[in-house]
Amino acid sequence: MLSYRHAFHAGNHADVLKHLVLVNTLHYATRKEAGIFYLDTHAGAGMYSLQSNEAKKTGEAGQGILKLDFMKLLNQLDGDNRTAMRLYHEHLSQFLQRGQYPGSPVLAAAVLRYQDHLHLCELHTADFDLLQKEVRGDQRIRYEKVDGYARALALLPPAQKRAVVLIDPSYEVDGDYKQVVKLVAEIHQRMRSAQILLWYPVVARGDIERMIAGLERSNVKDLWQFELGVAPDSIGHGLTASGMLVVNPPFTLPGQMRAILPLLQEQLAPAYGHWLVKNLIAE
Ligand SMILES: C[S@@+](CC[C@H](N)C(=O)[O-])C[C@H]1O[C@@H](n2cnc3c(N)ncnc32)[C@H](O)[C@@H]1O
Repeated sequence: MLSYRHAFHAGNHADVLKHLVLVNTLHYATRKEAGIFYLDTHAGAGMYSLQSNEAKKTGEAGQGILKLDFMKLLNQLDGDNRTAMRLYHEHLSQFLQRGQYPGSPVLAAAVLRYQDHLHLCELHTADFDLLQKEVRGDQRIRYEKVDGYARALALLPPAQKRAVVLIDPSYEVDGDYKQVVKLVAEIHQRMRSAQILLWYPVVARGDIERMIAGLERSNVKDLWQFELGVAPDSIGHGLTASGMLVVNPPFTLPGQMRAILPLLQEQLAPAYGHWLVKNLIAE
């Protein structure tokens, strides 16, 4: 029985990091004409109201996306780094103006082109229904109420020969931390060129250390870690940081994150936050 609902957390600091990385990875992939296969193994509801009871109950967006001064961020950046922030802001702003926050399926659909294909998996009945309503009618998108872990292996490698996979579980089921390591290694084994974006929450640091050690023992190459924290590591104080483990990132992404993450930390958590960009496994 799944109880996690992303509506309580949409637009928080973790979504900011995740979606910044997602938008820029997909955008870079569209520089080549050939179509892309995008797989979102844990898609969520697709769109979230920042005025909903769920959002108001936690106020997380107020400490995340709504706390950011985008004009200041854009003025502090230049060149490619400014472009990376501008892309993220451009894709969000029309929704923020309406009091909404777009989830990964909607952001991906906005960045991708007519020749690209999106495949969305979501297991929660209510969120799947919302997702369907949000993306129905877009001929590029297939959506299924299935287990994203199992479905990923059946779908990869795709006919398109180019793939970006977002793995964004809720980590509410025992074994999620081990299952994601297994999935990343199996995808990489089947398709060396796949760009894999794995989101992780820092609730107990030991879980993340074990996850990374598992990936380091696997066959995975070209693995990067991007992390943004708003509080020191602790036990029992909830989500203090989050990160993205990325296999085969665009070569521009580490530099962009080195420029942008310190500025996000400065705005979101100047006193106790942290950021990290690290190459965990070389190419
Ligand atoms: C963190 S949310 C996804 C947020 C979304 N990717 C975004 O960035 O907007 C995780 C979602 O995974 C769903 N879920 C949990 N276990 C799943 C599974 N085995 N397969 C597919 N979806 C699952 C949950 O219902 C939840 O909606």
